[in-house]
Amino acid sequence: MTTTREPGQTLAEFDEHLDELHLRGQWQYDAQLVQLTDGPLPAGVPFLWQRGLAERALEEMCTVRANDTARRNFTFINPGPGVDGTTPTLAMGMQITLPGEIASAHRHSINALRFVVDGSANLYTSVDGERLAMEDSDLIITPAYTWHDHHNESDKRGIWIDILDVPVMGYLRQIFFEPYGSSTQPLRETRADFISSRSSSVRPAWERRDSTRIPFRYAWRDVRAALRDFAGCEGSPFDGVILHYAHPISGGSTLPTIDCFAQLLRPGLQTQRHRHTSSVVYYVVEGEGTTLVGDHRLDWSAGDSFVIPNWMWHQHINHSPSTEAVLFSATDAPLLAALGMYREEPHDSFGTGPYPAVPADVVRGHVTT
Ligand SMILES: [Fe+2]
Ligand SMILES: [Fe+2]
Repeated sequence: MTTTREPGQTLAEFDEHLDELHLRGQWQYDAQLVQLTDGPLPAGVPFLWQRGLAERALEEMCTVRANDTARRNFTFINPGPGVDGTTPTLAMGMQITLPGEIASAHRHSINALRFVVDGSANLYTSVDGERLAMEDSDLIITPAYTWHDHHNESDKRGIWIDILDVPVMGYLRQIFFEPYGSSTQPLRETRADFISSRSSSVRPAWERRDSTRIPFRYAWRDVRAALRDFAGCEGSPFDGVILHYAHPISGGSTLPTIDCFAQLLRPGLQTQRHRHTSSVVYYVVEGEGTTLVGDHRLDWSAGDSFVIPNWMWHQHINHSPSTEAVLFSATDAPLLAALGMYREEPHDSFGTGPYPAVPADVVRGHVTT
């Protein structure tokens, strides 16, 4: 076998020859690169999963035994090709827990969160020794390596949305998983031992405070009250009144790889179009409306879930003249920002600061003018 190109050999034959040597010439990527002068191609497609469909699947899952980790859940799989999750970075799904059930304790390098659909004070997740109640629309974060087990001590089914960064952790081969060894972890008994006692604005000065691995419950009653407080503001031209679930210690992203938002669309609001390199998954908490994504139209109402892929122009519309719409969303923007890859158009629509000067900017400016 030789690595030199034979006289008279076509380029296709030479490519085959290189392939046998487990090599590939740069020229084979030329056709792909010329498609990218307007930025990355979206991964997957915009898609909506209706509440009725999800409820039926949850119902059917109750007839089968929960899996070895005692979790009955499914993932919303993007129907677009090549996406092994809801987006290439996020897996959004739904989970159901029957009265008396325990989803056994474990931990992993995957960051995860739960947004509660049907909850109660006696539905809860224990995270690193603390009991965090799961009432309707609460958000519970379980950062990487926190022990967590879910308990349903109520008399009705508990249902929540799960959102995890598992697709990207899997792609990077960074998944560690460890069962606790019993279904239930012991709970801490005094507030001084609570991890969450380190997340208030007054906290022990003798301890390190740089950990991002703080389990936390964002109670919906507080979030909904804040949305009400800001309801009269103009908000973002692209998202209406949108509130960020700030990290309880750093004030930064909700999780290292995921940011969460609650947004209120006033009756009759039509937002302006924008696009960003992050992809976003949504759960409709209240009301109904439409999200236009590229050429796709997603008509949604309470209980539906939908996805906007990366770098697609989109806008939200609340058609109702009298009823507010409220959306919960999660995005992979912190992951992209950490890599210096987060972009949005129009620039700075999220107030994230100046757009970095990169060659792609020059190319895009050249193409569009
Ligand atoms: Fe887990
Ligand atoms: Fe957006």
